[in-house]
Amino acid sequence: MRTLIVNCKNYPEVLGEGAVSLARAVSRVAEDGEVRAIIAPPTPFLGLVASKTGATVYSQDVDAVVGDKTTGATLPDAVRGAGATGTILNHSESKKAFGILSDLVPRLRGLEVCLCAGTSAEAAKLSKLGPTYVAIEPPELIGTGVAVSKARPSLVTDTITAVRDAGYRGRVLCGAGIVTGADVKKAVELGAEGVLVASSVVKAPDWNAKVRELADSLM
Ligand code: G3P
Repeated sequence: MRTLIVNCKNYPEVLGEGAVSLARAVSRVAEDGEVRAIIAPPTPFLGLVASKTGATVYSQDVDAVVGDKTTGATLPDAVRGAGATGTILNHSESKKAFGILSDLVPRLRGLEVCLCAGTSAEAAKLSKLGPTYVAIEPPELIGTGVAVSKARPSLVTDTITAVRDAGYRGRVLCGAGIVTGADVKKAVELGAEGVLVASSVVKAPDWNAKVRELADSLM
């Protein structure tokens, strides 16, 4: 089954009850059983979204620090306790060194992980950590409305080749600038098994319609 991850980032529309409404739209498309749809709400609203909706919830990030005397940090156990199924890690807006990631991923203990990469070489390296998903996202296209699948198709295909050559058997997603169902279809044609989206969904006038459009294009 292909996957749609909606990363809410910290757009004002989703700081609070908005995240709950968007999660309901995400959950609705997942109910049909044709697409795996996941929402990553702003971190303070993880528990609210998980408890008030049936959505599959990811954290947008977790911190690599260890221990309970870690004021302000978001720990894997806390994310799990809030009801999240997994986490995004190493998003280009929150990069971590490879050494940090190689310590952190094994400490996620049961949480799924979507590891983001900006290049095919980085994706291949990260894929060795055994994530649930590897997501290729060229940072320069994020939030532009210019889809990675159309503007940089070879980045998607090169990444798929690189991670398969590295022995990775998990799922490869792509993201950055994806706005329309046609952008999603193009990603699927290139071999992506799903997409990560943010601004096109959060800024859409009708969340149900936009999430439905993107999910239907994954089928
Ligand atoms: O994590 C997904 C994100 O970085 C893509 O952002 O706004 O280009 O869909 P956007």
